[in-house]
Amino acid sequence: MVKEKVNAKIAKANGKVSKKSSVKSNLKSNEKVIVTAALPYANGSIHIGHLLEYVQADVYTRFLKSIGKDALFVCASDMHGTPIEMNAKKAGIDPKKFAAKFMKEHQEDFASYLIEFDNYYHTDSKENKELVEYFYSELKKKDLIYTKKMNVIFCKSCKRSLPDRFVKGICPHCTTADQYGDICESCGITLKGTDLVNPKCSLCGESPTQKESEHYFFKLKSFSKSLEKWFNTKESLVQPEMKNWLNNWIKKGLDDWCISRDEPYYGFEIPDSVKETGEKKYFYVWLDAPIGYISSTKNLVKGKWKDYWYKGHIQHFIGKDIAYFHLLFWPAILMAVDIPLPKLTVHGWVTVNGKKMSKSRGTFFTAKDFLQDYSAESLRFYYMHGLDKKIVDLDLNLDDFKAVTNNVLMGNLGNFCYRTLIFAEKNYGKIDGVADGKDEKVFVKKIEKLFFDIEKYYLKQDFKAVIKNILIISDLGNAYFQKSEVWKDKDSVESKKKVGFCVNLARNLSILIAPVLPEFSEKVWKSLGLKKLLWGDLGFDWKGKLKKVEKLVEKIEVVDKTEEKFPLQMVVGEIKEVENHPNADSLYLMKVDFGKKIGSRQVVAGLKKWFNITELISKKAVFCVNMKPAKLRGELSEGMIFAADDHENVSILHAKKTKVGAVVNFSGLENSEKEVTFDDFLKIKMLVKNDNIYFGDKKLSSKVEDIVVTGVKEGSRVH
Ligand code: MSP
Ligand code: ZN
Repeated sequence: MVKEKVNAKIAKANGKVSKKSSVKSNLKSNEKVIVTAALPYANGSIHIGHLLEYVQADVYTRFLKSIGKDALFVCASDMHGTPIEMNAKKAGIDPKKFAAKFMKEHQEDFASYLIEFDNYYHTDSKENKELVEYFYSELKKKDLIYTKKMNVIFCKSCKRSLPDRFVKGICPHCTTADQYGDICESCGITLKGTDLVNPKCSLCGESPTQKESEHYFFKLKSFSKSLEKWFNTKESLVQPEMKNWLNNWIKKGLDDWCISRDEPYYGFEIPDSVKETGEKKYFYVWLDAPIGYISSTKNLVKGKWKDYWYKGHIQHFIGKDIAYFHLLFWPAILMAVDIPLPKLTVHGWVTVNGKKMSKSRGTFFTAKDFLQDYSAESLRFYYMHGLDKKIVDLDLNLDDFKAVTNNVLMGNLGNFCYRTLIFAEKNYGKIDGVADGKDEKVFVKKIEKLFFDIEKYYLKQDFKAVIKNILIISDLGNAYFQKSEVWKDKDSVESKKKVGFCVNLARNLSILIAPVLPEFSEKVWKSLGLKKLLWGDLGFDWKGKLKKVEKLVEKIEVVDKTEEKFPLQMVVGEIKEVENHPNADSLYLMKVDFGKKIGSRQVVAGLKKWFNITELISKKAVFCVNMKPAKLRGELSEGMIFAADDHENVSILHAKKTKVGAVVNFSGLENSEKEVTFDDFLKIKMLVKNDNIYFGDKKLSSKVEDIVVTGVKEGSRVH
């Protein structure tokens, strides 16, 4: 039963192929292929930065399947490690459950971006445990593992040894304070936690102690020569940038690799570690994570996994940040257990609007957030439109994204397929002939050459060139349709056949673009009454009935969330009435007019100690109007008056010349209107300088005047 299911899965992945692929590649014709993308940590949500790689690997696998390869796309969530263990503890959940929750979320997110794994698994699985133990026993047998006593940092109050990232202290090299134990961000030197001067536990702030602990090491150094040989001989397979990095790393000299971690840890226990070191030790997450690629395969195809890993072709896609692990540690481990080495493709970083994604800039989008405003296929198209094999960062510029979606995807490719199919269905309902005059023959020659190029670029993983060439075809198609002016003479045999030619062109485009836009293509196929089309179905002889095609692409509007905003909504109000709070000695109740839009509100203020009622009445001042309404001693307060305070003197923020209801802001920084809590409010630091109010280097003003205070000291805080 199991075996049948597996065979069925493979057969399904294999698809049907009517023609042999015509392009030479480094893939042997019947070779089994495993494609992987890095295993995302089950410690947070998938964001649009991650998606580049999963889309890249998905597109590549879908293409391989289309040309008839036995290719499987396997992945998993990376469940182990210190951050997961710690966050689970914080949340009061068992780490297995904690990680499982994220794994489920990852699966949903990937599915929503049409990323189709043949198997999506997890690294804390039975298969992975068995394989890790098998790998470890092989390494041991070959005398590639030894133990060594080393100093680790131990926090007595947290009762744990601390990874380098979890200690902070003074850099021994440049004396900058507050540096993490793995790297000094000021001088860039790499450190060990034990190097720091005056180290502090970043979890509890206590000074940790040093402790001796025995750890397991893998003899990485002894692989220097074979690694060097590997990436220097297989020239065409390693990106040139990578080759340089690798050569530099080797030149600097490799250190043996510590593969164990102390308790508490979420990971696989190292067999016999108690016996050998006197303590429980765990495999470091980076040992078991890549083995997760194999265990995910094994979980899918059971005993057949060896056909893929020993005789097949392995293609990993990874980001540049994890190149060290995949190009040194992982191949060395594979060599040690006699598994052939993989091919690797490294990609650069996704930036948004030219900068690293950032929550405060509004450019950090989780996969889910992004789908609120845009479609999965628009992102897939945009990424592939910009991605070749160079290891450079890919900028998701939102204006450019809009232009590519609306003008290129929709305006060129979508437009051609849609107008053709709509026209054909509406006017004829079916295609029973295809134009094949002189023009068309020339046209077909040109396009067949492009089919060949596109196939070649897909194989080379130069997706940018793939898209470029597909767009050349749809461009030609649009021009042909335009020139033929079939609408002028709809019912002639000639026109019908020309439209038939265009329908065939649209059908071909749907095959070419299917790896990138699977839903787009499916809609085209549906309108032709077809199921799935593969590369071998390319051609110009399709005839048949048509159904009305669904809308292929949605136009997008860029929703600007990227602007930096000041969290408080600051507005000028006029104090109309003031009375004593019935239940509190220090408080006033004020009626404040905020003009037409906001109206009149009651504000409770603690100003009684500083001002009498007449001093406040009919004054115009700055208020915060987006605080969560609160009852203060039984009285509702729907706003807050700002005041500068140096503990001896207090001043409200005067706005004598500004109209009631007018907005006040810090040098053009727009105010947010989202509701804030009192806690949010307390975090904002506004200071008095020269009787003006500053937020950082930005001065507070309305359209007509600077906002001023009176009689408070320089540097007072505004509350
Ligand atoms: N768990 C490890 C991988 C183990 S593989 C045996 C890990 N996980 S991750 O969730 O941090 O990253 C997963 C992949 O997403 C990595 O290849 C990483 O490079 C990629 N990216 C994460 N953020 C990214 C961008 N902002 N831009 C492009 N890729 C990014 O590393
Ligand atoms: Zn601590």
